[in-house]
Amino acid sequence: MLANKQNKVGSAADLLSTPITRGQNALKAYTKILANPHETRQLRTWKIGEAAAILGCHQQTIRKHEKPDGSGKLGMPEYDQSGHRAYSLERLNFIRRELGLGKSKPEGASAAVVSVTIYKGGVGKTNTTISLAHELALRGYRILLIDLDPQGTLTYKCNFNQTFDFTAEETIKNVLLDDPLLIKDVIRETHWPTVDLIPAHEEMEDTDYSLPDPKKSNTKKLGPAVYRLKLALEFVKQDYDIILCDCGPNQGPMTLNALLASDHLLLPILPDLNTFTSSMTYLNRMKSLFTDVEENIQSINFFINNHNGNKQAVAAEAFLREQFDGIILDSTIPTSEGFITAGNNLSSVYELRGKNKNTAVKNSMNYTKKLCDEIMTYVQHGWENQ
Ligand SMILES: Nc1ncnc2c1ncn2[C@@H]1O[C@H](COP(=O)(O)OP(=O)(O)O)[C@@H](O)[C@H]1O
Ligand SMILES: [Mg+2]
Repeated sequence: MLANKQNKVGSAADLLSTPITRGQNALKAYTKILANPHETRQLRTWKIGEAAAILGCHQQTIRKHEKPDGSGKLGMPEYDQSGHRAYSLERLNFIRRELGLGKSKPEGASAAVVSVTIYKGGVGKTNTTISLAHELALRGYRILLIDLDPQGTLTYKCNFNQTFDFTAEETIKNVLLDDPLLIKDVIRETHWPTVDLIPAHEEMEDTDYSLPDPKKSNTKKLGPAVYRLKLALEFVKQDYDIILCDCGPNQGPMTLNALLASDHLLLPILPDLNTFTSSMTYLNRMKSLFTDVEENIQSINFFINNHNGNKQAVAAEAFLREQFDGIILDSTIPTSEGFITAGNNLSSVYELRGKNKNTAVKNSMNYTKKLCDEIMTYVQHGWENQ
């Protein structure tokens, strides 16, 4: 039946044209809400209990310095529409500074570059990147996100739409091909005030073909094609604490650029042997790259994502921990409803609210926190050894 239905269509291109038009219209309708990011998606505020938990202090500490008459160190509280104290991310960061709470990057240390990368799609690279970015922002760090995957999922999650908001020239593409200084022009603010983004565009796919071609990329002026991102990041590192690169599911030149610009590599892996085989391919590729060229990697770690708790996943986890002993984090991220909902909302789990989702959302955030704690031990160590 199916084959007959398809045989009626003249060519493969014809076969695709109706679903493409239908899909594009659906996305256009959906992205109407996304078309005007700063008007339509506003970052939430937090209640005083949540603020205290984020800041790692008691509510009383905040109240002591934030008196209704404005006489305390923190001045007047801010309130939401129902008259409760409300804390924006800016306000949390102000309190953090005034009360000397929280860790920060040591004075003079350079931004840490962390790439989330693996030779496989659908394993949680983008979900991990955005979740970590928002967790780190809540901890008071300034973040730059770089979307290196032409599919642009991270870009959508940051509330930007390729069709309306920018062209392929306004991505990392021209930074890598023409001039590293252009990096300052392609950084965009997101609705999280301390999270910036270099977006991706589907038409930046050809960057991977052009980069190694001396006719298409300015090799004479810019030097080896694999070091361009590293070169460009030097111009913006002073503005950030952590730079997170979300790589595409490939081992192409843009990914290699991310690897050689990185201090830390984070490799999501599913608890199954399918992902294990592609991980081995990727490890081999990385090893030969790092043997041939200069790198400054301080840590390489797998972590298991999307663990559904069944027998096969448990067995696969044990197997992976044995094989990757020394390069695998303790944190395992279970399959979690909060991440699924965030995926369906083109957002991060940190932006979801609503009673019915609370437990699932909290669980997903707690998994992210644990993962973040573990990664930050490496980042902190890297900062201290600079
Ligand atoms: N731990 C998890 N639990 C449930 N869903 C997850 C989890 N990690 C990722 N996902 C979902 O799996 C899908 C693929 O994840 P994504 O981060 O886009 O993968 P990648 O970037 O590696 O292609 C997304 O819909 C995401 O929301
Ligand atoms: Mg992705």
